[in-house]
Amino acid sequence: MAWTKLGSRESVSMGKGKEFTVNGKRIAVFNINGNYYATEGLCRHQDGPLADGTLKGEIVECPWHFWHYNVKTGELLDYLKGVKLATYSVEVRDNDIYIDT
Ligand code: FES
Repeated sequence: MAWTKLGSRESVSMGKGKEFTVNGKRIAVFNINGNYYATEGLCRHQDGPLADGTLKGEIVECPWHFWHYNVKTGELLDYLKGVKLATYSVEVRDNDIYIDT
């Protein structure tokens, strides 16, 4: 396990996503009611930036062509079966967000 500090809790607004780069990899972190979830940052369709998508509950809609993913499981919910984003464990320590890469 390699925990990486991303930033403060406030850096990811409630009900939104924010992109971070960790070891050259783009990662999207989502804040659902103060709980944080992390997935790979790029849509499997054409690399749309998922952190800029619309978050409804635990579903993010890609801002480019509106594919939907569950941010807890990484699962794509439409079009193709068996497509799954990588997900990362997230911890909050003190006021900071860490992910396990
Ligand atoms: S890039 Fe995400 S739906 Fe096309």
